[in-house]
Amino acid sequence: MQVVEAHGARIPQIGLGTMTLKGDVCVQAVKAALQMGYRHLDTAAFYGNEVENGEGMRQSGVRREEVFITTKVRENNLMPDAFQRSLDQSLANLRLPYVDLLLIHWNNKDIPFRISIGALCKAKKDGKAKHVGVANFTTRMLDEAWAVTTEPLVCNQIEVHPFINQDKVLEACRKHGMAVVAYVPIARGKVPGAETLERIGRAHGKSAAQVSLRYLIQLGCIPIPRTANPAHMKENIEVFDFSLSDAEMAELRKLNAANMRVVNPPHAPVWDTP
Ligand SMILES: NC(=O)c1ccc[n+]([C@@H]2O[C@H](COP(=O)([O-])OP(=O)(O)OC[C@H]3O[C@@H](n4cnc5c(N)ncnc54)[C@H](OP(=O)(O)O)[C@@H]3O)[C@@H](O)[C@H]2O)c1
Repeated sequence: MQVVEAHGARIPQIGLGTMTLKGDVCVQAVKAALQMGYRHLDTAAFYGNEVENGEGMRQSGVRREEVFITTKVRENNLMPDAFQRSLDQSLANLRLPYVDLLLIHWNNKDIPFRISIGALCKAKKDGKAKHVGVANFTTRMLDEAWAVTTEPLVCNQIEVHPFINQDKVLEACRKHGMAVVAYVPIARGKVPGAETLERIGRAHGKSAAQVSLRYLIQLGCIPIPRTANPAHMKENIEVFDFSLSDAEMAELRKLNAANMRVVNPPHAPVWDTP
């Protein structure tokens, strides 16, 4: 599996998103994904499926060291004691001594970065996370977090797909040498059926979903599409055997003008504007 390197982390360039996958559906999806070649899993304390991610990983027979697993701490658990309790519970759920990547899931504007980022860095120093990073951070938040962090923040996990303009935050991640993990990479189902992506896909014998994932890979991002459907799962990993031309990339970039944001909860920050 192709990897993206950032500050010493080597992150497999496709991951399995697992939000909303519950119970045995999640166990079977994780197991099937690892057995078909996935090496990167994305979960979170908030998703309520860390137990199932761990179980699927063990049932797959793939060695722990070969899997890159990410979990996240919620915005209401960013004070040091709560942070540590959340992380310890995540590790107990996963039945693992450490995760490969630990993220702040959403910032909490009432907690200074030196406290929340401090708690994140402590997790790395304690050996409970090999690498640490953030999610849903804007350009300003990245600059402020980098000003106080004692450990490299290896990634920013953010919404990226062809229908959103994320140029400013992508540039800020490049400036800080951070990997970009792209969530909702097929725009939560809005990619299949979209004319431009379907047409480009037909020219390569690929689906619209595969075109969106390939677009993200060529941007240097790490897409984490979510599915429990084995056919979709297989499709989503078969994106390393074709390339989009410069003209096709430019056409897909034009779709950014729609600037459609799928994920925008009440605790979201004031996003960068294009
Ligand atoms: N950090 C954050 O704040 C944050 C926020 C949102 C998401 N995430 C992470 O990102 C992951 C992905 O985001 P998401 O789950 O919201 O959206 P997504 O991956 O863009 O879309 C998932 C939807 O796409 C469909 N799909 C998947 N592969 C397909 C294919 N090859 N062809 C057609 N349809 C396909 C799935 O349906 P089927 O089940 O029928 O395949 C599902 O309905 C999440 O699971 C989570 O791990 C993180």
